[in-house]
Amino acid sequence: MANALSSATSHPFTLEDRLHLERLISPIQASAEEQTGGSDVISGLTQIPKSLPPRYFYDDRGSELFEQICDLPEYYLTRTEAAILRRCAGSIAQLTDACEIVELGSGSSTKTRILLDAYNQQGYPLRYLPIDVSGGILESSARDLLKDYPSLQVHGLVATYEQALQKLTPARLPNRMISFLGSSLGNLNSCECDVFFSQITGALQAGEYFLLGIDLHKSKEVLEPAYSDSQGVTAEFNLNMLRHLNRRFKGNFDVAQFEHWAFYNEDQHQIEMHLRSLREQRVYLRALDLTVEFAAGETILTEISRKFDLDVMQQYLKARGLEPVQVWTDSNQWFGLLLCQLQPAL
Ligand code: AVJ
Repeated sequence: MANALSSATSHPFTLEDRLHLERLISPIQASAEEQTGGSDVISGLTQIPKSLPPRYFYDDRGSELFEQICDLPEYYLTRTEAAILRRCAGSIAQLTDACEIVELGSGSSTKTRILLDAYNQQGYPLRYLPIDVSGGILESSARDLLKDYPSLQVHGLVATYEQALQKLTPARLPNRMISFLGSSLGNLNSCECDVFFSQITGALQAGEYFLLGIDLHKSKEVLEPAYSDSQGVTAEFNLNMLRHLNRRFKGNFDVAQFEHWAFYNEDQHQIEMHLRSLREQRVYLRALDLTVEFAAGETILTEISRKFDLDVMQQYLKARGLEPVQVWTDSNQWFGLLLCQLQPAL
């Protein structure tokens, strides 16, 4: 009793008090119709050429594999971005003042710690809103953060970007920053990118911030190994999408009958990642009542990963009312980090 009392006084808010989780997608999607997803699988697999949305990479196993990718020697993105963040986090905290961080695709929240440390050093209150489609990794990384930052408040959303951006209630701190790191923007084609930015500017109030990390143009010799690593982790990550679909939509993909294939499309400035069917085969997804035929050698596009030009991106953001406040890059100019502020509508 005495113990409980003294710990209650030294920690006025328990971890559970500081954790709030909302699930907009359920872990198991019994009926595809009423949930997000399903219809996008049907349209992707009935088109020619076939494609699947990259968000199906990220079941809990896929998020784990992605964490392994981030540590690969060939995958320079995460490490380069983290190095830039460590260098500029203090400036970001000073420029944005006390603000809550909304993170799209938070994953393991590793890079978030760099930002939280910087806000903490300024003596600002810490409030973090991670958003991820993978509920398992979201909850476990939120709990890890809450243990390490005793004053932190976390409000997590298990949701797609679109769902979450619609659901955001006004900031509780004087300001807000939506962060979108790791060049996840690269997964969107230019049309999806336009839609995404209208959702972002719709979710922000004038004066609020957007922090964007993007992978920049570079040689094929650097890019291709980053997406076809020697240990085969990226291949496993790519193939895991089929396992995820099997579980989620009661499918019977034989994963051994597909192979990973990635290359850099230099004209489009994008990595294209595919799954190639090793033989003629037929797959059935019971929850979608969908039969899919594959020819030998036929491919499914599972991801594009666009590479950007820093100046073009700044113009693009500016044109959407997101005024670049400051831009950082590394000495190789491999990766860019842009802090933008939403201008009042004209
Ligand atoms: C998380 C979308 C930025 O495109 O580099 C890593 C995903 N795919 N290896 C990327 C990914 C294959 C990653 N993003």
